[in-house]
Amino acid sequence: MKILETINSKLKHRPSKEKIIENAVKWGLGPKTMEMLERAVNVEGLGAMPFTMYDAPPIIEKALEDDAIVYDVDGREYIDTMAGFAVSNIGHHRREILEVIVDQFSKIVQYSEMLSEVRIKLGEKLVSITPGSFPKKVYYGVTGTDANEIAIKMARSYTGRPIIITQWGDYHGRSIGTIPFTTSFSTWSQNYPIMGADLNVVRIPFPYCYRCPCNPKADSCDECDESCLEFVDYMLSHSYYGLRDPSTGETNVAGFLVEPYQSAAGYILPGDKWIPGLYKLSREYDILYLADEIQTGWARTGKLWAVEHYPRVEPDVIMISKSIANGLPFSVVVGRAEIVDSLGPGAHTTTFAGYMLGCAVALKTIEIIEKENLASVARVKGEKLINALKDLMEHHPVIGYVEGRGLYIGIEFVKDRKTKKPATEETKWMTMRLMQKGVLVKRAGYLGNRFALSPPFTIKEATMNRLIEVFDEVFSEAEDKFSIKGKD
Ligand SMILES: Cc1ncc(COP(=O)(O)O)c(C=O)c1O
Repeated sequence: MKILETINSKLKHRPSKEKIIENAVKWGLGPKTMEMLERAVNVEGLGAMPFTMYDAPPIIEKALEDDAIVYDVDGREYIDTMAGFAVSNIGHHRREILEVIVDQFSKIVQYSEMLSEVRIKLGEKLVSITPGSFPKKVYYGVTGTDANEIAIKMARSYTGRPIIITQWGDYHGRSIGTIPFTTSFSTWSQNYPIMGADLNVVRIPFPYCYRCPCNPKADSCDECDESCLEFVDYMLSHSYYGLRDPSTGETNVAGFLVEPYQSAAGYILPGDKWIPGLYKLSREYDILYLADEIQTGWARTGKLWAVEHYPRVEPDVIMISKSIANGLPFSVVVGRAEIVDSLGPGAHTTTFAGYMLGCAVALKTIEIIEKENLASVARVKGEKLINALKDLMEHHPVIGYVEGRGLYIGIEFVKDRKTKKPATEETKWMTMRLMQKGVLVKRAGYLGNRFALSPPFTIKEATMNRLIEVFDEVFSEAEDKFSIKGKD
């Protein structure tokens, strides 16, 4: 029966306990790690993130306060290029944060979703530091996924229209409600027989400049942006796509739900015309612009928000999470007051939303980001790292493309620069080899051939230099092992 074939083929791509342990031996993980991994594979679902990210994952125990260094249970040191997926922007832990946690904890941690002074203060702060010169309000959640679900509900209830447009390659969560807005092959193929569905999702291309989907012949990112914008404009201005009746201007589209830069896809930046262009279309066609800044926010790209790189772009709604509370789960939606108020009583709530402890830590995190001007720190350190990586390209043909802004950096690996054939197997191997040599990287990309680098802003210059040295060594090894030759 076909169904058995389908299921067997999906199962073939799942990690098994035996394979994980075999890989851990192969890559020489430490004795304590081995012992714990044996326990972990017996107690944890094997589809969980650690087992999909690494052939055999490290087991992290602690981090340095003032650098980008983490240690595993065997005491092995790793350069941290991930910050727990862009969560620990201000560093993994800080004394000031600890003090706030102790202080707030000794008063109260949470009290269902009730108001508190600290929550109100945080709301007042957030509306003052998010883009947009219009009256704004906040709505709290717990995770990034939560924030996106809130934003989707708001856009629909405010406009009375069902359709949300998102970009191919975007990541907005993996709950039943957000899966339809996320383009990730593993999510789609591994949620069966029925995955999260939403009939009112429409996708537009994202100008992935290195492999421009709208115009493979594009000579520049600007040209790629222009082609993609033309296509979106066409979609919205012709009845053929069913999004808008050009004769009356009636539309069923509520909003664009978009990542300014694509994060889970491997830190892919569009050209400079895309975001202003898409925003302009949103104004022309009366469509809300909902910016998912869950990963790009909090100074990661060298400005507090990625959309701030584009002066006149003022999202109607912005979704915030990850590093807002320096490692505590917390999220919030900030938007035009009338849009936020359009969510009716009981339309959304979750027990821990806006809990006091999270609010107190978020306020302190924001204070630190502002006081230490961390946006500029990310910008300066990011420039150095990006330049050093571009220098590595000179003698490493395996690097196809380097792009980034601030400490938000994507590297794309290819087997051959001319054909741009993705070096997927090589990237997987390099991820493990780097781990063995003391560097943790996040492998990403539509094609699994990118590294997404987002170290804590506390990364020291010497650590960045060491990172480049190890990259240099491992890229050379990969080129030898997989016979990657020639530069162009
Ligand atoms: C851009 C973006 N949106 C949404 C999410 C989902 O956030 P969470 O994992 O906290 O639910 C993520 C997580 O990686 C993300 O990067």
